[in-house]
Amino acid sequence: MGRLAGKIAIVTGAASGIGEASARLFAEEGAQVLAVDRPDSAIDTVHAGNGSIEAFAADITGEDAPKKIVAAALGRFGALDILFNNAGVSGRAFVEEMTDEMWDRVNGVNVRGMFRLCREAIPALKARAREKGRARIVNTASVMAFDTDYGLAAYCASKAGVGGLTRTLALELGKFNITANYVCPGAIYSGMTRTNFDKPEIREVWEKKAALRRLGQPIDIARGALLLASDEADFITGHELVVDGGLTLRT
Ligand SMILES: NC(=O)c1ccc[n+]([C@@H]2O[C@H](COP(=O)([O-])OP(=O)(O)OC[C@H]3O[C@@H](n4cnc5c(N)ncnc54)[C@H](O)[C@@H]3O)[C@@H](O)[C@H]2O)c1
Repeated sequence: MGRLAGKIAIVTGAASGIGEASARLFAEEGAQVLAVDRPDSAIDTVHAGNGSIEAFAADITGEDAPKKIVAAALGRFGALDILFNNAGVSGRAFVEEMTDEMWDRVNGVNVRGMFRLCREAIPALKARAREKGRARIVNTASVMAFDTDYGLAAYCASKAGVGGLTRTLALELGKFNITANYVCPGAIYSGMTRTNFDKPEIREVWEKKAALRRLGQPIDIARGALLLASDEADFITGHELVVDGGLTLRT
């Protein structure tokens, strides 16, 4: 039996990279998945033919997007066990040159959008936890939640925000048997990083930095998210799961 047999999950950012791999893995493990991504993404085609995955095109920052996304999961599948908030964007600029637009875009997707979707999903997660004994929130942060790099002020602030949001969710929702945890990917080959990591000189630097001497693949992070989403993680909450192949072990 799959590790998510009988579960219903929302996965955001599911058209590419980590979200795409996670939607697929969750479905393989028995879940029914609402796969959410922007209307201009490949969300309507990338999971075509997978009977356990329903595509839902929405920009999570839309005013009524959280309502529509949760309503779609409940309408299609009847309940919600797992909310995997994974959609994210990056952007680089030195603070001195960073525009309000860049700051707001990065933080708007990575933290504000996540917060608003959590808020909307909590009643459904509580209802499911009352019925089944558990429900889950899993959020994607980054090793940039605790490290940094040049030009990443908005991204680092947003990912540290994911940590603070998730730990508080864990505290507030524990008594309802809802866990909230976050994964911190290291350097992962995905839509966000492909252009850089396709350059051998950049790829080699990051491969060398990791103890395991390779870039991560989206499936590596999907497996971490699966652990946190599964029943095996019943007593894990407020946890920061670093999945970076040892990238951040040394200074
Ligand atoms: N790739 C890495 O090295 C790395 C490292 C640490 C953290 N992360 C985080 O992992 C998560 C997934 O990124 P990825 O690496 O798979 O990149 P990706 O670009 O391949 O996938 C991100 C997906 O999120 C979607 N998305 C972005 N904004 C959205 C919005 N407003 N509404 C709905 N969907 C939206 C994109 O369309 C895209 O399909 C992000 O939160 C990212 O910050 C990635």
